[in-house]
Amino acid sequence: MPTSIRNLIELCTVIPILTVSRREDAAPLARALKAGGLRVIEMTWRTQDALDVLTEMKNAEPDLIIGMGTILEPGQVEPAQRAGADFLVSPGLTRDLETALESAQCPVLPGVSTASEAMQAAAAGFEVLKFFPAEQAGGMAYLNSLRGPLPEIQFCPTGSITRDLAPQYLALPNVVCVGGSWIAPSRLIESQDWDAITENAAAAAALTD
Ligand code: 3PG
Repeated sequence: MPTSIRNLIELCTVIPILTVSRREDAAPLARALKAGGLRVIEMTWRTQDALDVLTEMKNAEPDLIIGMGTILEPGQVEPAQRAGADFLVSPGLTRDLETALESAQCPVLPGVSTASEAMQAAAAGFEVLKFFPAEQAGGMAYLNSLRGPLPEIQFCPTGSITRDLAPQYLALPNVVCVGGSWIAPSRLIESQDWDAITENAAAAAALTD
């Protein structure tokens, strides 16, 4: 499993972001994403069973690298790691969360949406940042503008990114990967349309080439 964020981003170009309510969907969903050729996944912590779903996905497909998203508070760091999270993702940073994430035993992708937040996160030692919510916060034009003053900072944009927008974001020099729910949206998970998810995953995996 990757030990640094640099290691992690070498393994992915597109990260499916999942919100899963039913534990029974964990194993078939893991298999569907793997069949499509994706290896790195973010599970949002927005449902009651999110931790168990992550654990069950890891048990079903141990090669998958699954991060726990929606980390908002220091108290979530330990349980997420105990559930098997290979990395942690937050939509933003507070001072307390920054301290907790600095001591996490796995790679971390903290969220920012402004130049000041990016500078603060970079100063705290985070090397790759989630740009969230990407489309609403200024999209590609904003990321392009950050590149002038902040050329060293690399981003993984997420938030309303679509299959069509993903390659355009990936073409930006300061974008190392993108994430989004379009590969496995909740409606496809709820209808258990594993073939459609595999198809979306394969299209996303092809963006790596
Ligand atoms: C999130 O954390 O909600 C992600 O950014 C997913 O966003 P999307 O559903 O707009 O792709």
